[in-house]
Amino acid sequence: MVDLHCHILPGLDDGAEDMDDALEMCRIAHADGIHTIVATPHCKNGVYDNNETTILPVLHKLQEAVNQEGIPIRLIPSAEIHIHPELITFLEENQGLLLGGRYVALELPSQFVPPYAREFLFKMRLKGYTPIITHPERNSVVQANPEMFEEWVRGGVLVQVTAMSITGEFGNRVRKCALQMVRAGLVHLIATDAHLPHWRPPVLSKGRKVLEKLVGHRRAEAMVKDIPEKILKGEVVEEFPIAEPRYQEL
Ligand SMILES: [Fe+2]
Repeated sequence: MVDLHCHILPGLDDGAEDMDDALEMCRIAHADGIHTIVATPHCKNGVYDNNETTILPVLHKLQEAVNQEGIPIRLIPSAEIHIHPELITFLEENQGLLLGGRYVALELPSQFVPPYAREFLFKMRLKGYTPIITHPERNSVVQANPEMFEEWVRGGVLVQVTAMSITGEFGNRVRKCALQMVRAGLVHLIATDAHLPHWRPPVLSKGRKVLEKLVGHRRAEAMVKDIPEKILKGEVVEEFPIAEPRYQEL
């Protein structure tokens, strides 16, 4: 499996604190069946001022340590960027953080959706970038109105839900929204969004099991393997069919 969202780089954000944490997270991920981890430190102006210059050297250092320890994990550099209106300039200056030359993980605020978001996401698409919205199921506006993502997904935006949301570890409201969105064909992949070895660890298999029951083996596998791999290669990701009835109680 490929984990497309993981705060594994030590000292860059609220994820791994040191090299020992990061190596332990790699061991946990490997034991869970993950072979590739996309390192996505937060990029949020004034809070986590990360960019290529801060991220790439730490990634290379961690990959060296992982190789030395004999852990078969490949690390890919990227970021989880908090949505802001100057984002396109940031991407133009930090092309090394794009996945497959065009995909990038984008985080919404947790309590609201900025009024400029819709127009801005389409502007990003016109510029050749494909946003992957991270864990919308944890946003209170989306929880009340998951169907708002239909238009965004039809416009080419990808959606990542967190594995622990699917398993209910963020509570029932988050779980319900996550499963409704999966069922409605609005979710392209799940990822761990792991932060530490023992708090939000890099485990995908539990979420994958829940998905298998909900949407079947093939599609569950696509959401942890085929689609993340396409993203890493810069290939186009097809839409999932939309199930009827939509947004039923789960
Ligand atoms: Fe994250």
